[in-house]
Amino acid sequence: MKTRITELFGIEHPIIQGGMHYVGFAELAAAVSNAGGLGMITGLTQKTPELLANEIRRCREMTDKPFGVNLTFLPTVSSPDYPGYIKAIIDGGVKAVETAGNNPQKYLPALHEAGVKVIHKCTSVRHSLKAESIGCDAVSVDGFECGGHPGEDDVPNFILLPRAADSLKIPFVASGGMADGRSLVAAVALGAEGINMGTRFIATKEAPVHQNVKDAIVAATELDTRLVMRPLRNTERVLLNEPAKRLLAKEAALGANLKFEDIIDEVAGVYPRIMTEGLMESGVWSCGMVAGLIHDIPTVKELIDTIMRDADAIIRKRLAGFAG
Ligand SMILES: Cc1cc2nc3c(=O)[nH]c(=O)nc-3n(C[C@H](O)[C@H](O)[C@H](O)COP(=O)(O)O)c2cc1C
Repeated sequence: MKTRITELFGIEHPIIQGGMHYVGFAELAAAVSNAGGLGMITGLTQKTPELLANEIRRCREMTDKPFGVNLTFLPTVSSPDYPGYIKAIIDGGVKAVETAGNNPQKYLPALHEAGVKVIHKCTSVRHSLKAESIGCDAVSVDGFECGGHPGEDDVPNFILLPRAADSLKIPFVASGGMADGRSLVAAVALGAEGINMGTRFIATKEAPVHQNVKDAIVAATELDTRLVMRPLRNTERVLLNEPAKRLLAKEAALGANLKFEDIIDEVAGVYPRIMTEGLMESGVWSCGMVAGLIHDIPTVKELIDTIMRDADAIIRKRLAGFAG
C-alpha cells in the first residue's frame, strides 16, 4: 500500500507505532521498523538526552530501516531538556519525529534543516490545522477511542477522520482504536493515509513490558477503560483497575476542588512499576478501548503482515465484490 505517509517516511507499510511511556524502547521500535512500519522510541522515557542518544544507537544496531522518536511536550513547570533531546535526535541521524502535547513550532526549523520529518499528534481538527500551518509534515489524528490523552472534545474517529480529510492538505494517519486490517481499510476510506497504533503494539512478543501488562490487555474488553483527570483538563484513558476506581472516587468527592496533589499516588511515577515490574495495581496506565479487539500476543511481524494481508483481501474481495 503506497500512500503519502509511506513516501514521507520511506517505509513499506503505512503503519506507525505511537510513542508510549516505558513501552517505546529500542526493542519495540526496531521490531516495528524491521516489519516494514515506522517504530518510535519514546524520548522522555529516557531520563536525559545522553540516554536517548544511547537508545537511538541501540535501535540502530537492531534495524537498518527508518525509525523515529516521540517527543511529548508536557505542560509541566520544570520542563525537560527539550533542546538536548532535539540535538540527540539530529546527531543520532533519526529522520522522523512524532511530537505530541504542546505546540512544537519552536523546534521545527532545526528538525527540518536536519531533514527530519515531523508528524504531530492532535486530538482535534483545529489543532491539526494549526500543526499544518506551522509547517508539520503530517499529523496523527487521535480519536476519542485512543489510549492515553484523547483531549477534551470527545469526538470519535468516525467523525474526526472525515473532518480532518475535508480540512487538511498534509497527509494524516488515523490513531485510536486501530487494531487490524479492517481498521486500516476503514481509516483509508475515511481519508487517512495510514494508521498509528499504541495499545495493539503493547500486546506483541517484542514489546519490552511485563507479561502481566500484555495479559491485562488481552483480558480487557472495550468496556474496561475509563477517563481520568478530566477535572484537571488533562484527560487520560486508562485501564480500569483499583487505582483508577480510587482516583475516580476522589474526583467525584472533590469535584472542582480537585488538585493534581490529590491524585499523585495513583498517577506519579507508576509506569516503571507497571510496565517493567508487572505490578498492575500500582497506579493508572494508558490503555485504549481497542483492547476489546485484542485477543492474542503475536510477533510484531505477524501482526503487521496479518494487517496488510487482511486489508488487501478486504479491498480486493469484499469491497470489489460490492462494486461488482
Ligand atoms: C501505555 C501507553 C503510553 C502512552 N504514552 C504516550 C506518550 O508518552 N506520548 C505520546 O505522545 N503518546 C502516548 N501514548 C499514546 C499512543 O502513542 C497512541 O497515540 C495511542 O495509544 C493510540 O490509541 P490506541 O491505544 O487506541 O492505539 C500512550 C499510549 C499508551 C497505551
